[in-house]
Amino acid sequence: MTKQVKEREKAGRRPDRVAIYPGSFDPLTNGHVDIITRGAAIFDRIIVAILHNREKGPLFTVQERVDMAREVFAGEQKVVVASFGGLLVDFARQQGAHVIVRGLRAISDFEYEFQMALMNRRLAPEFETVFMMPAESYTYISSRLIREVFALGGPIAGLVPGIVEARMRGSRRAHGSRA
Ligand code: PNS
Repeated sequence: MTKQVKEREKAGRRPDRVAIYPGSFDPLTNGHVDIITRGAAIFDRIIVAILHNREKGPLFTVQERVDMAREVFAGEQKVVVASFGGLLVDFARQQGAHVIVRGLRAISDFEYEFQMALMNRRLAPEFETVFMMPAESYTYISSRLIREVFALGGPIAGLVPGIVEARMRGSRRAHGSRA
C-alpha cells in the first residue's frame, strides 16, 4: 500500500482509483485519446505508460511520445504521462495503480489481450485488467496502420491528434520527402 493510499484511508476517504494505460503509442492515435478520455471519466487518475521498447526504427523517440501525449492532455488533471521499462506490473505497483486499462477494438485483439491480462494476473494477482471499447469510428485505427498510410503519403487527418499530425508532417519535411 502506498503512502498516499494510507494517508487517504487515515483521513477517512476512499483510496484514489488509479489506472494505468500501457502501450507503445508510436504514434498516439485518436483511438488512444478516446480510451484515455473514457478512463479519466471513471478513475481518479489514469497513467499513460509509454513503453521503452527496443523496436528498430520507431517513428518517434519515447521522449517525443511522452511530450506529445502531455501536450494533448495539458490541463487534464487526471491524466499523467510517464515512460517505463521492465515489467508493467512492477511499474504499476510503483505508481500505486490498481487497474490496468487496455482498449479492445475487435475480436482480433482478444487473443493477445487475453494472454497479456492472464500473464499480468499471474505476475501480480492484485491487479485487475479492464477492457474499454473506443468509439466505433476508431475501431479500425492502429498505430501500425497509421505509420504505414503516412509512409505511403496517405492522409491521416482525423486519425491522430492535430499535434501528432503536425509533428509527423514536420519530420517528413525535415527528411526531405513528400509533405
Ligand atoms: O501498444 P502495445 O505495443 O500493444 O503495448 C504492449 C505493452 C506495452 C502493454 C506490453 O508489451 C507490456 O506491458 N510490456 C511490458 C513488459 C511486460 O510487462 N511484459 C509482460 C506482460 S504480458
